[in-house]
Amino acid sequence: MTKRFFIQTWGCQMNDHDGEKLTGVMVQEGYVEVNSSKEADVVILNTCSIREKAVHKVFSELGRLKKEKLQRPLTIGVTGCLAQQEQSHLFTRAPQIDFVLGTMALEKLPHILSQAQIKGEKGIDVEHYPDNHLFPTEIAKRKPTAKALVTIIEGCNHACTYCIVPRTRGIERSRPYQSIIDEVIRLIDQGYREIELLGQNVNSYAGGCNFTELLRRVSALKGLEWLRFTTSHPMNFTKELAHEIVTNPRIAPFLHLPVQSGSNAVLKRMLREYTIEEYLERLDYLGSSRSSICLSTDFIVGFPGETESDFQQTLDLLDYVQFESSFSFIYSLRPGTAAVRLKDDLPAEVKQERLVRLQSRQAHWTLLDNQNMIGKVVDARIENPILNENGFWVGRMGSSKTLHLKEKVGYIPQMGELVSARITAASPHFLGAELV
Ligand code: 5AD
Ligand code: SF4
Repeated sequence: MTKRFFIQTWGCQMNDHDGEKLTGVMVQEGYVEVNSSKEADVVILNTCSIREKAVHKVFSELGRLKKEKLQRPLTIGVTGCLAQQEQSHLFTRAPQIDFVLGTMALEKLPHILSQAQIKGEKGIDVEHYPDNHLFPTEIAKRKPTAKALVTIIEGCNHACTYCIVPRTRGIERSRPYQSIIDEVIRLIDQGYREIELLGQNVNSYAGGCNFTELLRRVSALKGLEWLRFTTSHPMNFTKELAHEIVTNPRIAPFLHLPVQSGSNAVLKRMLREYTIEEYLERLDYLGSSRSSICLSTDFIVGFPGETESDFQQTLDLLDYVQFESSFSFIYSLRPGTAAVRLKDDLPAEVKQERLVRLQSRQAHWTLLDNQNMIGKVVDARIENPILNENGFWVGRMGSSKTLHLKEKVGYIPQMGELVSARITAASPHFLGAELV
């Protein structure tokens, strides 16, 4: 009898791609992928633990699955960062879980699954397998998306005091560059024209060449149109890399460089290893081409001890740099991180109010930037070729901006197709456009 599985993934693109690797392993084992947990014999929750909210989502889904499991045979597995962090404690907190698989043990899934299914035992493998960056990516089963995700480095050697990732993903391991090149060639052959290189800190890549050299080598591959990467630590951002980004036409004009805070006192407590002056110096590496690059960042508000004046410095930084986009979060205490020891007595309402102020300031700059685009003709890749209820297709520019493309009667766009579009409208979150 055919066995069916469903994987639900939360978190970053690294985790999305781990979901694609897990899907490949399941398919290789003879399982068939289905679109909802209701139809599945095995449900895998591929989790994130970066903030408490992400963890809540997992436990709420586990609660729902517990009820399903009372109705019919169901195997429940937990993978990803929460699995790595909580390990066997998960069985105590949620006895409905049948197996737990750590972030470095994806290839052990068949063994753990058979332990849980055939032997009826709880299965767990949260060992550190430092070679997991050598995962045989040819078995990964990618979602039918416009761009393909490619892991180049796993882990992180920094020690930001708020961050759980070094604990859940281990120290840096770079994949040999030839294996990356081989995979990208294969993906181009399969029809992908856009690749995103992934790692917790891509710019410390050291798999036989440095990151800039890797970008040069990958972007030179015939058939590739856009190359992207995420994510970068400012201290590993070099002049050489900045030069490559602004001069290489195949590198999408987008840079995500998380700053976290505009206050040196806060950055120090976060152990970010730079001052704001040093961060700005790195942005200056982009030179006059800064204006043609869409710059994005991450902010944490309400970090322990953040004063109103610290927060004001974050707003000042945003106004000074005028980031085209940013992701901002309220600090979330993560068990096992160094920031647990810092006194965190800022009321929740103050944190929330700061987040709202920051996000509305960001919306102002994003909208202004988007309004300046009206009337321009741009290249965009189709990311959703199915017309939505408002009558538009979704596309993405090299700068990462989202386009809502008005239907053109008689035209049938393809997933991943590169189109020309004229910008007709702007909002803080997307641009309205029509095909030309
Ligand atoms: N609380 C809030 N935000 C966090 N991030 C990482 N750890 C935490 C935390 N404990 C944010 C950072 C990071 C992004 C991926 O998530 O801004 O850059
Ligand atoms: Fe979440 Fe970070 Fe793990 Fe990605 S690496 S899944 S963001 S905790």
